[in-house]
Amino acid sequence: MLSRRFFLQALGAAGTIPALPRGVRAALPVLEAGASRVQIAPEGYSDTALWTFNGSFPGPELRFAQGERFAWRVENRLETPTAVHWHGIRIDNAMDGVPGVTQDPILPGTGFDYDFVLPDAGTYWYHSHAQSVEQVERGLYGALVVEETDPPEVDADITLVIDDIRLGDDAQIIPDFDNMHDRSHAGRIGNVILTNGRPQAEYQVRQHDRLRLRLINASNARIFELGLYGLAGWIVALDGMPLAEPEAALDTLTLAPAQRMDLIVDVTGEDEAFLLHFDRTGGYAQASFRIGSGTRARREPPAALPPNPDFPIDLANAVPQRVLMEGGAMRGLSEAMHLGEVLTGRQLAEKGLFWALNGQVGRDMLPLLEVPRGQSVRLGIVNDTAFPHAMHLHGMHFAEVLPDSTLGPLRDTILLAQGETKELAFAAHNPGDWLFHCHMLGHHAAGMGTFIRVT
Ligand code: C2O
Ligand code: CU
Repeated sequence: MLSRRFFLQALGAAGTIPALPRGVRAALPVLEAGASRVQIAPEGYSDTALWTFNGSFPGPELRFAQGERFAWRVENRLETPTAVHWHGIRIDNAMDGVPGVTQDPILPGTGFDYDFVLPDAGTYWYHSHAQSVEQVERGLYGALVVEETDPPEVDADITLVIDDIRLGDDAQIIPDFDNMHDRSHAGRIGNVILTNGRPQAEYQVRQHDRLRLRLINASNARIFELGLYGLAGWIVALDGMPLAEPEAALDTLTLAPAQRMDLIVDVTGEDEAFLLHFDRTGGYAQASFRIGSGTRARREPPAALPPNPDFPIDLANAVPQRVLMEGGAMRGLSEAMHLGEVLTGRQLAEKGLFWALNGQVGRDMLPLLEVPRGQSVRLGIVNDTAFPHAMHLHGMHFAEVLPDSTLGPLRDTILLAQGETKELAFAAHNPGDWLFHCHMLGHHAAGMGTFIRVT
């Protein structure tokens, strides 16, 4: 773990950022985390001070071919440590980007070389995993797309990274990152909704065009309820992983924080089509498509995407592990373990900690579970809180065990409604210490995280 002394030393006595040595040229392409100003608020408002990768918000969309090697250097030009997590990539543990677990934090003025192979095609994303409530909110995220060798035929392949951000009247981020209400309730919900970093994304299409829409929820805590208007089609992948069969995209598509959804849709509208998001007050355009006339006729439904490498889940011999989620507003914690000590709910709250998994608040010395590589695991998760949570497992995808004991689609992040119980199963094929945490980032910061050790 980062000690404060180490941090101050690295910053230098004056608190300035040490310069990178001159004349040293990075051999790898660079993602540079730094401060920049970007116009995100509607016209008439000022630009916004953000933290970005390579000056862009979201960070540059990184596109690779399946099986390709990813070798990029992350350089830190911020005044605070960072690290980058490649969300959903079944990666080598040392490359997972979790400071204090898989690597040392990338201190200001230094860099870290990420180098791994991309085993799976699909829609992924990358984001800071250091002080993520703040760093993701300030803009340190981007899309990571891995293309199939034989991709489905579409007229356009469009990535839509959706987010919400909490801005003041001056169009600047309200820096209340340790807001206790957010941490103990639904997390940090923003007041400005963004698509690819702007209030709205606009595209020009033709009638009967076929579009692949790659949806990514990069928000801190907002569960997006999405809908299609003038577009009709199928869900073909969730969290990067192809569905065995394309599934008709219904009226409401739920996308929890960190989840992705790949849609293949046909433009069926006349003049305009929309991806909408719904809230209590109505439906709003998240992306709009101006429709020109086309000559194509409607096509047959798409085939399933080619499957990614399979790590079969052996349900019959799986090790069961119960995970009890407790705490938060309206329920509270009477007491729980934190860093090897039993603390009362009040003592925990004073530290900004509100949530427990199996009576343990925050990552402790001991894993939730330790299993040998190749072992299958069943996690029975009970959400005994008054809030929904989006639980994410690093390094491996899991499937929900459905009531009839069949397995649902592979995912890396799953939403549990308040009071809900779900069972997940996965093959622990990837050795290392893998975080298992709520992707409502304020919840994670407030204790809702642990890890699973695969030896
Ligand atoms: Cu998307 Cu632990 O993260
Ligand atoms: Cu949560």
